[in-house]
Amino acid sequence: MTDKELGKGGEPRQQTTDREKTMTTAQGGPIADDQNSLKAGPRGPVLMEDHIFREKMFHFDHERIPERVVHARGYGVHGHFELTEAIPELSAADIFQRVGEKTPTFTRFSTVAGNKGSFDLARDVRGFATKFYTKEGNWDLVGNNIPVFFIQDAIKFPDLIHSVKPAPDRGFPQAQSAHDNFWDFVSLSPEAIHMTLWQMSDRAIPRSFRFMEGFGVHTFRLVNAEGKSHYVKFHWKPKQGLQSVVWNEALKINGADPDFHRRDMWDAIDAGDYPQWDLGIQVFDDDFADNFEFDILDATKLIPEEQVPVRIIGTLTLDANVDNFFAETEQVAFCTQNIVRGIDHTNDPLLQGRNFSYLDTQIKRLGGPNFTHIPINAPKCPFHHFQQDGHMAMHNPKGRVNYEPNSWGDDGGPRENPEIGFKSYAEEVSGTKQRVRSETFADHYSQARQFYISQTEIEQQHIAAAYTFELSKCQEERIRLRMLSHLMNVHDDLAKQVAEGLGVTEMPEPATPAREPITDLPPSDALSILKN
Ligand code: HEM
Repeated sequence: MTDKELGKGGEPRQQTTDREKTMTTAQGGPIADDQNSLKAGPRGPVLMEDHIFREKMFHFDHERIPERVVHARGYGVHGHFELTEAIPELSAADIFQRVGEKTPTFTRFSTVAGNKGSFDLARDVRGFATKFYTKEGNWDLVGNNIPVFFIQDAIKFPDLIHSVKPAPDRGFPQAQSAHDNFWDFVSLSPEAIHMTLWQMSDRAIPRSFRFMEGFGVHTFRLVNAEGKSHYVKFHWKPKQGLQSVVWNEALKINGADPDFHRRDMWDAIDAGDYPQWDLGIQVFDDDFADNFEFDILDATKLIPEEQVPVRIIGTLTLDANVDNFFAETEQVAFCTQNIVRGIDHTNDPLLQGRNFSYLDTQIKRLGGPNFTHIPINAPKCPFHHFQQDGHMAMHNPKGRVNYEPNSWGDDGGPRENPEIGFKSYAEEVSGTKQRVRSETFADHYSQARQFYISQTEIEQQHIAAAYTFELSKCQEERIRLRMLSHLMNVHDDLAKQVAEGLGVTEMPEPATPAREPITDLPPSDALSILKN
């Protein structure tokens, strides 16, 4: 390669005679001059005929794809999961059978509300999504760093997200919950109150992705080879410990380095300081479910670790940065419907709705039904099916057979396999078709209170300060007062501190609970960062 000669515009020419290093068009045609478009004479006009210019500009014009409708800003890393305790008695999932076996993974951490260019230290929930490339297909555990969620039924999700994203007229705020619309929605959806306690706590401003927990949130099922099922909640416990920053620090970091979390992850992995998380399971049966104070299908509730201890069964190690951010981090498609034999869904109405939403949005975001052909999404085990065609098809069936049943014998392509094929847990289901919320989902304050009393004094002060700050941004007094009326049902001290901070002298009436809260739930140490 020579770069000493100058072109006519004085620019250094970077040329080669090596075929391997020769720049080409996307069609493979070698390029002689990538600095000048084709002109009629030295001063133009530029000719339409210039296929090299047109191809280059066309491709550039199409570089952007829609950002994720939520969790747009994220950071992905490769790793592996190593099983430390086999659980064949609980699950037939291949990944849970052999101690010491390593399964490749891809994990993407994210914020929820901000757009792709927003800052890392927003007060927000963090996504913690892991794709396990198991020997029996991809399993996606699409979790958050908070064990509960804002809503109980997926039909409310578009409204929740509309309320937290920039308002349609003014286009702000960006990546903040300090927003009339958001607090209006929450104060009219009391099921969200518990989650806002977590969101106003230090959990929502983690020190880095490396120092936060992860939760599958929903109750899932583990199903063993005999078809016996147990309920399960998945947990990620960071071996680095739990750390957050305080709000003051978050503001400064956002100003000084909006990429603080992604830089932290890149640097740690680049330096060989690989972050690790233990995978824990809370396993319980129908007896526990029937006697638990809350409905295990309600995603706004958690199961305290004192009641069902977390059993550690493996370790996730993140040990490789991506080669290309777009190809891997942007194009990865996590989906709650990606489960494998031995793991199954429950009737949680939030989970059922998610199973539709992810696949649907990914067809749009990634340009059609073939996004599983993108290497980061493709299974790493053998796979065979008769799906074909559509935009960007890379793996069409080979030969003449693309249907079944067929009578082409050994040439007939893939066949069903009842031995290792996925079987849904044979749960008995019956009921009247109706649009309704179960009464067992109606207690919205008890676990919010339990969370609050589980915090240390300083953590409680942070929660009160965060509500005060966020609600002080609400211009509408009625919204601030409505939120206070809910906080009064959570804890008097919290409500008083926030009211004082907001300058409210006359307290509103407490909100009328749909179901009387349980006021004597004991504190749980696992809910506090400082006690961990
Ligand atoms: C991303 C929908 C609740 C965790 C997304 C995306 C959608 C979505 C459409 C963008 C996906 C993409 O473009 O690839 C929903 C709906 C929910 C819901 C409809 C409730 C009805 C939750 C809950 C959790 C969660 C409860 C945590 C347990 C995530 C994560 C991502 C995500 C981690 C980012 C995945 C990535 O890194 O690519 N969600 N979500 N979501 N969601 Fe949800």
